Amino acid sequence: MFWIWAADRAFSPAFSWPGGRRAWSRSTSRKPWWPPVEGVVGDAATIALGRTFTHLLSAGLLEFVPDPAEVLVNARRHADPGARLVILYPRHNLAGRGYRRYHRRHGFAIHLFRPAAIEAMAGTAGWRCLDSHPVAPFSCVATFEAYSP
Ligand SMILES: C[S@@+](CC[C@H](N)C(=O)[O-])C[C@H]1O[C@@H](n2cnc3c(N)ncnc32)[C@H](O)[C@@H]1O
Repeated sequence: MFWIWAADRAFSPAFSWPGGRRAWSRSTSRKPWWPPVEGVVGDAATIALGRTFTHLLSAGLLEFVPDPAEVLVNARRHADPGARLVILYPRHNLAGRGYRRYHRRHGFAIHLFRPAAIEAMAGTAGWRCLDSHPVAPFSCVATFEAYSP
């Protein structure tokens, strides 16, 4: 799951299995083990869900999009005042470059980020960084708060 915009329900524009919840319900009388999630397929840079959310999550997404700044701007459009956004992204270090090489070998040109660059990009989109932690070997997880400049 790549984007979860969570409040009373959650949405995932790049949900890997659209309709998965319905498919589960058809195949079994057991309740799904995951929380109520509505899968929505779309481009995280341009999708318009027509509502805002208290919590947003981007895990392993930003490195794959052509314009990460646009995704942050669109996330801000979907954020309540004071909403939190958590981003997991790959850093520009030796292991990160190995991760990028792995994807290049499979035909994907991915981005690596420096924390200062992500924070500047997010700041321009209306996200204030609250904290940021490296996650070995090459990731970083950062929390942002929606603000109005
Ligand atoms: C490495 S996977 C992320 C895996 C995810 N963290 C998980 O735990 O399942 C990257 C995903 O980003 C999605 N993606 C790439 N470009 C996208 C875009 N422009 N909008 C939305 N999703 C996109 C792809 O569909 C791909 O499944």
